Amino acid sequence: MSENKSEALANLSNETRRFDPPAELAESANVKADAYDRASEDREAFWAEAAERLDWGRKWDQVLDWSNPPFAKWFVGGTLNAAVNCVDRHVDAGNGDKVAIHWVGEPADDTRDITYAELKDEVSKAANALTELGVEKGDRVAIYLPMLPETVIAMLACARIGAIHTVVFGGFSSDALASRVTDCDAKVIITSDGGYRRGAPSSLKPAVDEAIEKLGEDSPVQKVLVVRRTGQDVEWNDDLDVWWHDAVDGQSTEHEAEMHDSEHPLYVMYTSGTTGKPKGILHTTGGYLTGTAYTHWSVFDLKDDDVYWCTADVGWVTGHSYLVYGPLANGATQVMYEGTPDAPHKGRWWEIVQQYGVTIFYTAPTAIRTFMKWGDEIPAEYDLTSIRVLGSVGEPINPEAYVWYRSTIGGDKAPVVDTWWQTETGQIMISPLPGVTSGKPGSAMKPLPGIVADVVDDDANSVPDGSGGYLVLREPWPAMLRTLWGDDQRFKDTYWSRWPGLYFAGDGAKKDDDGDIWVLGRVDDVMNVSGHRLSTTEIESALVSHPKVAEAAVVGAADETTGQAVCAFVILKESATDDEGTADDELIQELRQHVAKQIGAIARPRQVMIVPELPKTRSGKIMRRLLKDVAEHRDVGDVTTLADSTVMDLIKDKEGSGSSSED
Ligand code: WT7
Repeated sequence: MSENKSEALANLSNETRRFDPPAELAESANVKADAYDRASEDREAFWAEAAERLDWGRKWDQVLDWSNPPFAKWFVGGTLNAAVNCVDRHVDAGNGDKVAIHWVGEPADDTRDITYAELKDEVSKAANALTELGVEKGDRVAIYLPMLPETVIAMLACARIGAIHTVVFGGFSSDALASRVTDCDAKVIITSDGGYRRGAPSSLKPAVDEAIEKLGEDSPVQKVLVVRRTGQDVEWNDDLDVWWHDAVDGQSTEHEAEMHDSEHPLYVMYTSGTTGKPKGILHTTGGYLTGTAYTHWSVFDLKDDDVYWCTADVGWVTGHSYLVYGPLANGATQVMYEGTPDAPHKGRWWEIVQQYGVTIFYTAPTAIRTFMKWGDEIPAEYDLTSIRVLGSVGEPINPEAYVWYRSTIGGDKAPVVDTWWQTETGQIMISPLPGVTSGKPGSAMKPLPGIVADVVDDDANSVPDGSGGYLVLREPWPAMLRTLWGDDQRFKDTYWSRWPGLYFAGDGAKKDDDGDIWVLGRVDDVMNVSGHRLSTTEIESALVSHPKVAEAAVVGAADETTGQAVCAFVILKESATDDEGTADDELIQELRQHVAKQIGAIARPRQVMIVPELPKTRSGKIMRRLLKDVAEHRDVGDVTTLADSTVMDLIKDKEGSGSSSED
């Protein structure tokens, strides 16, 4: 492990604070300590019991088929419909009037409460509309939408008819959309004219038009379904474009749902890997729904009268598992918010908590740190006493942020569940149970019942308590990814090749003296910016696609607010530099913008340094570790494997000379 990691280890081992579960919560908790024993005695029976929480068309013959690893099948022979489980069955159970979604638009007073009965009607209408547009079971549908009720409705409508959705985060660029649409061959794109962002309408449809234009003849897209949200002008192509209200509103609310095979694909979610090409993570139906519903119920201790709010965007896996499938399968009432936390004021989230009486709140450390920065006086203006459980996800939560979250937002009583998982795992894997675990700030604690995680050394030996290593999963779990879309080999190579039989998650972790797990972050060339994984290679290729750039190296440097920030080191083509070999600030801004345009604003480098050389090994591999030292303003570490050991001096000189930009 790098110097950096051992420092983190040293710091964490000084953390001695403990927070016991509140007595009341412990007493009435959905899941108690016995679950761990039951699960370890018979893991398959444990997950079968969890699957009983769902409605099945036909019950499974076999809980798990692991005869052809790493290709798992769960609840083999069973059939079910995800949309029916998330919607219809709650109506059938007499809960049609229960609010499923308190939708809160960004503009003030723009709200919509949707009951389960209404959601059922809307999903059925949308399913009928998709069928009419020619979407069939197994077809792929790209969803490129802001946080609108229609986004959830569209996902569930796809699930209902067995079409496979791929939601592309609305902040991604047309290029990112185009590559995803091509990779999974999407027949239809569902989008909107725009959405509200920081008080102003921001357009979305033009990016779809651009993506389709870029794909040209090869575009698989036959229809674009457009939700009217902002009313702004849009370009219209009569052959392709259809308004959502024209296609959906007149449809029947009756829709007979087919029961799909338990292993029928539910969705593909693209995530960054260590190469430029994003990976299409494939999730299927029965196991995924079992894993997300069970963990949402157990980790958040969901009760019938809870008001749950997960602030994640639907465009990320957290939105899929803990805004759409988990909570809706459990018949929960939840808040869904369209906008940013500071629109129109920095107390907006807490105002929403107060207004709806939110009891369970799930967000990311980057947001928590932002609120810490904004000051305690902002949340102090609101009544947050309804909150009883707090969740964190996306990156390691530093102990100070954990303690602040617990005390300032949770009134010193709400337990914080630090939930470790990934796009690939589909469901929460390591987390405290709020009624069982005495939490330690900064630790995700123990694998949930039914999950077998471990920390191992280079030879796959389990490390003793008190040591660090690689975080792995030893046994299959229901919501695990089944493969990478169209690339079984890459699936094996990426996750299962390092050690036979072990899933390697890409994270480093430590077991403390009690055996509790502290996740330390990625060990590969993947950054974690505001809880989102970005690949260094992807950003590097975006940079070199700029006509003035010869070469680029990107690292994730520690950042107080976003966890890691994108720092780019760029070598310009000779034609792009002036006589002294320097470049102006304008170009730096242009490069930052260029990345934002190519990938999305989230990838915009915090800092671009124009350098004369990059540190490389003799075999030509860029030594990012050294660049990270520079970006984090540390003394540069061991340079002995550099082909040219003077390179780092050149780079450090540049850093001091102002050829960089930071906001
Ligand atoms: C990576 C997965 C899980 C949904 C959001 C991100 C990091 C996630 C934690 C946590 C420490 C965490 C890991 C993981 N991560 N949660 N509680 N503690 N690290 O999904 O984009 O697939 O990223 O996020 O590095 O591997 P993702």
